[in-house]
Amino acid sequence: MSDHIKRRDFLKTTAAIGATVVAGNATVASEQLIAQAKKGFKPVVIASSNGLSATAKAMELIQSGSDALDAVIAGVNIVEDDPADHSVGLGGLPNEQGVVELDASVMHGPTGRGGAVASLRNIKNPSKVAKLVMERTDHVLLVGEGALQFARAHGFREVDLLTDEAREIWMKWKEHLSPQDDWLPPHDIESKDIGESWKEFFRTTGTINCNAVDLRGNVSGCTTTSGLSFKIPGRVGDSPILGAGLYVDNAVGAAGSTGRGEANLLSCSSVMIVEYMRQGKSPEEACLMACQRISEQTRMKRLLDDRGRPNFNVSFYAINRMGEYGSAAIWSGAKFTVNTGEQESSRLDCAYLYKKENN
Ligand code: GLY
Repeated sequence: MSDHIKRRDFLKTTAAIGATVVAGNATVASEQLIAQAKKGFKPVVIASSNGLSATAKAMELIQSGSDALDAVIAGVNIVEDDPADHSVGLGGLPNEQGVVELDASVMHGPTGRGGAVASLRNIKNPSKVAKLVMERTDHVLLVGEGALQFARAHGFREVDLLTDEAREIWMKWKEHLSPQDDWLPPHDIESKDIGESWKEFFRTTGTINCNAVDLRGNVSGCTTTSGLSFKIPGRVGDSPILGAGLYVDNAVGAAGSTGRGEANLLSCSSVMIVEYMRQGKSPEEACLMACQRISEQTRMKRLLDDRGRPNFNVSFYAINRMGEYGSAAIWSGAKFTVNTGEQESSRLDCAYLYKKENN
């Protein structure tokens, strides 16, 4: 057992797990958890593909005794602060009007609490604001102007989140959106059909989800994002919705998502993944089941390819309390990052439902 875990904490944790099992339905997974508690916990941090630095930071903190939620928030703060990541925090791609709006959620397993913010402007670390919603309000989700006022009241400094690089990507999208509007990309007097090629400008739903088990066997998670690029102002994806973009149950594990939030909002996959794990599925199996469920629930033709499969991607990341991890996406080619404390963070292939032709 780690030096950081006092014997008293260990006995308390073991007893708490036992109580959970007695209170709920005892499952194979729960028996394994008790066995694991007796041996000591195996820490793990999992994140989306952009989480190499986040998982490394979170594991470093966990190994020095940090709570899993503090660790994952410190990890994702690196990505929120990074102007080169256009899917999160500072430098995130803006809405259709050129304004960056951020969504984030946190869940703290040991206390069974959660907090979230949506459509938050001018604050580069929405994950920290989400944690304060959890700790310093009787609410779970604050949005828009109310979320901003709350952040200001707690001393968060406002910054312009739209970097020049992100503004230029947005301007390119805007200028190529339609040949019928008045925004023109660079052209010469010979050019015709100006601004027809908007489909070349990929719209991202990149995000970072990061979940961890700490040395006490406690589980927490965080999801933070600038959401769908060039969205309608006020659009909220799955990331700040507990049960959809993130879910944690300390007796079982945690799950979170990246990708097309609208699809995940309609299936609440993170809570489903945790429930599949409670029934004994491995994290990877549970993530694959969520992908399958989204695929079956998608019936609108505009969202299907010619073989009836979703024409978008969603990826899931899951851990259980025993320190097992897994990830899956609807389509092949997706990656996730992980750190088990035994070596540096690594980036691995997600399991998948459908294989893309080119990979
Ligand atoms: N999954 C992130 C979003 O759709 O906003």
